[in-house]
Amino acid sequence: MENAIAGRCSHQLWLVFLILFVLCFVLFHFDYSTMMPADNELPFSLDQINPVAVSENQTHLATNQSVTDESVGEESDADTCLGRYVYVHNLPSRFNYGLLKNCQSLTRGTNSNMCPYLANLGLGTEIENSQGVLSNQSWFSTNQFSLEVIFHNKMKRYECLTNDSSLASAIFVPYYAGLDISQYLWSPNISVRDSPGKDLLNWLVERPEWKKMWGRDHFLVAGRISWDFRRQTDDASDWGTKFRFLPESQNMTMMSVESSSWKNDFAIPYPTNFHPFKDSQVIEWQSSVRTQDRSYLFTFAGAPRPDLSNSVRGVVIEQCRSSKACKFINCSSEGNECDNPVNLMKVFRRSVYCLQPPGDSYTRRSIFDSILAGCIPVFFHPGTAYAQYLWHLPGNGTEYSVYIPVKDVKNWNGSVEKILLGISKDKELAMREEVIGLIPNIIYSDPRSRLESFEDAFDLAVNGVLERIERVRCVIREGKDPSIGFAEGDDYKYTFSEWQGYEKDPLF
Ligand SMILES: *[C@@H]1O[C@H](CO)[C@@H](O)[C@H](O)[C@H]1NC(C)=O
Ligand SMILES: *[C@@H]1O[C@H](CO)[C@@H](O)[C@H](O)[C@H]1NC(C)=O
Ligand SMILES: *[C@@H]1O[C@H](CO)[C@@H](O)[C@H](O)[C@H]1NC(C)=O
Ligand SMILES: *[C@@H]1O[C@H](CO)[C@@H](O)[C@H](O)[C@H]1NC(C)=O
Ligand SMILES: *[C@@H]1O[C@H](CO)[C@@H](O)[C@H](O)[C@H]1NC(C)=O
Ligand SMILES: *[C@@H]1O[C@H](CO)[C@@H](O)[C@H](O)[C@H]1NC(C)=O
Ligand SMILES: *[C@@H]1O[C@H](CO)[C@@H](O)[C@H](O)[C@H]1NC(C)=O
Ligand SMILES: *[C@@H]1O[C@H](CO)[C@@H](O)[C@H](O)[C@H]1NC(C)=O
Ligand SMILES: *[C@@H]1O[C@H](CO)[C@@H](O)[C@H](O)[C@H]1NC(C)=O
Repeated sequence: MENAIAGRCSHQLWLVFLILFVLCFVLFHFDYSTMMPADNELPFSLDQINPVAVSENQTHLATNQSVTDESVGEESDADTCLGRYVYVHNLPSRFNYGLLKNCQSLTRGTNSNMCPYLANLGLGTEIENSQGVLSNQSWFSTNQFSLEVIFHNKMKRYECLTNDSSLASAIFVPYYAGLDISQYLWSPNISVRDSPGKDLLNWLVERPEWKKMWGRDHFLVAGRISWDFRRQTDDASDWGTKFRFLPESQNMTMMSVESSSWKNDFAIPYPTNFHPFKDSQVIEWQSSVRTQDRSYLFTFAGAPRPDLSNSVRGVVIEQCRSSKACKFINCSSEGNECDNPVNLMKVFRRSVYCLQPPGDSYTRRSIFDSILAGCIPVFFHPGTAYAQYLWHLPGNGTEYSVYIPVKDVKNWNGSVEKILLGISKDKELAMREEVIGLIPNIIYSDPRSRLESFEDAFDLAVNGVLERIERVRCVIREGKDPSIGFAEGDDYKYTFSEWQGYEKDPLF
C-alpha cells in the first residue's frame, strides 16, 4: 500500500511505517519478549498528537521496555496494533441483529429467502457435494448481499479491537445498511425509504465518538452497490435512498461491493463462495486451478438484458453464441443453476478468459468468481474493476486482465474472439499467474479462523480505510479543512479517457 500514500502527510506516514517496522524487527528478530503487557493501554491517544512525536516516544518506550522486560518471557503483539485500533459501535439491534432475526422480510430484491444464507456467520450453508469441482470444507452457498454480515463477524475477531474509543484509529459502524434498505427500496414513498438511514444517523451523532472527528473516522460496509444509497432528487421515481447524501453520512466512509463516483465511497470485493479457514486450503486451491486443463477459449455466464439496448452485453452474448471457442451460460433460462457455484466454477475453471461486460451496474460478482477459477477476466468498461477495487487489485489492469474498451456499442465492430486469439501464449500464462496470485486478496476467509501468511479481502479493506482516516488526521493537524475533497464527486472513474491504470488517489 505504500505507493498509495501520497500528499502532504506522506513523510509523516512513512515515518510511522518505518517505526512500526523497526518495532516488529525488534520484537521478532531479537526475540525480546513483551514490550507491553497484553492488556496495557497506551498512555496517550494517537490522534491527539502528531505522529512523529508519537513515533519518537514510542521508540524510546520500546527500546526501554524491550530491555527491561526481557525477563518476562511472555509473547505479545500489542504494539503491532499501534495505529490500527478499531472501536466497534454497539448499535441498537434494530440496525443489525434484529434484521437477521427478521430475515424473511429481507427477501425482496434478492429473489431468494435470505434466512439460509445467514448460517455460518453469514457464509451460508456449506457446500458438501461438489462432484470434485470445489475443495472440501471451504465452500459455502454465500449470497452477495451478506457482505455486511460477514464483514461484521470478521471485525469481531479483528486482532486490534479496542473498547476505549479514545485509542481507536477508526470507528466501525456495524449497520447492515443493504439488508435494511432491501425492505424499503421498492417503496414509492421516499420518506419510508429514507427513514431507517436517518434513524441510524440520529443515533450516531449523539454518541461521544462522533464529536471527536465529526464522523470522519467512522466507516461502514454495505453489501449492495453504493448507487442504492445515492438518490439525488426527491423524485419518487428515482432509484434508491439518499442515505449517502445526508450531511452526517457524507462525513463517513462507506465500503461496498461497487462504489459510486463520490470519493467517500470505496469498493471492496463481492463475497465469493470460497471461505478457507487455513492457509493450506488457499495454496491447494491455487495449485489446482494452476494445473487445470482449459478447453474453452472464453466464457460468458450471465443473463441477457434485452431492455438495455445500448449495453455491450447483448453484443458479447451474440459473439459468444456464434463462436465455437466460447461457452455461454444463459442465466435467464430455467435450470441453468447460475446460483449454484459448482456449475459456474466447473465452466470457469475450464476457460482461459471470462467475459465481464457491465449489466445493470458496472460491476459483477462474476469478476471474483472468474479470478477464483484462474480465468483471466475481460473487461469492457473501466468502471467494472479498474476504477473500483483500488485496495485489492493491481493498479495496472493489463497485468491480470484483458481490456477491450467499448465506448459506443452501436459503432463497435471488434471481435472478442479475434482479440483473444491474438494474445500470445506467454502473455496468457503471465496473466493467469497474476490472477491466481490475486486469489488471497479477494476472498473473505472464514471468520472463525485467521489465515497466517495471507492478507485477505477483509485485511486489505481495513488497511485501506485506516490509511484513509490517517490521511484525514494529517489534514486536520495541518490546520486544513478535512471536508475539502472528502465527499467530492469524481466522474473520471467512469470515463474512457486514456486509461493508463487508475491513478491511485484514495482521498484527495
Ligand atoms: C514525548 O516525550 C517527551 C519527553 O519525554 C515529552 O515532553 C513529550 O510530551 C512526549 N510527547 C508525547 C506526544 O507524549
Ligand atoms: C528508559 O528511558 C529513559 C529515557 O529514554 C531513561 O532515562 C531511562 O533510564 C530508561 N530506563 C531504563 C530502565 O532503561
Ligand atoms: C472430500 O470429501 C469427499 C466426500 O466427503 C471425499 O470423498 C474426498 O476424499 C475428500 N477429498 C479430500 C481431498 O479430502
Ligand atoms: C469490550 O467489552 C466487552 C464487554 O465488556 C467485552 O466482552 C470485550 O471482550 C471487550 N473487548 C475488548 C477488545 O476489550
Ligand atoms: C409516506 O410515509 C410517511 C410515513 O409513513 C407518511 O406520513 C406519508 O403520508 C406518506 N406519504 C405519502 C405520499 O404516502
Ligand atoms: C461534518 O464534518 C465537519 C468538519 O469536517 C463538521 O463541521 C460538520 O458539522 C460535520 N457534519 C455533521 C453533520 O456532523
Ligand atoms: C436465455 O433464456 C431465456 C429464458 O429461457 C430466453 O428467453 C432467452 O432467449 C435466452 N437468451 C439467449 C441469448 O439464449
Ligand atoms: C502495465 O503492465 C504491462 C505488462 O503487464 C506493461 O507492459 C506496462 O508497461 C504496464 N504499464 C504501466 C503504466 O506500468
Ligand atoms: C470497423 O470500423 C472501423 C471504423 O469504425 C473501420 O475502419 C473498419 O473497416 C471496420 N471493420 C470491419 C471489419 O468492418
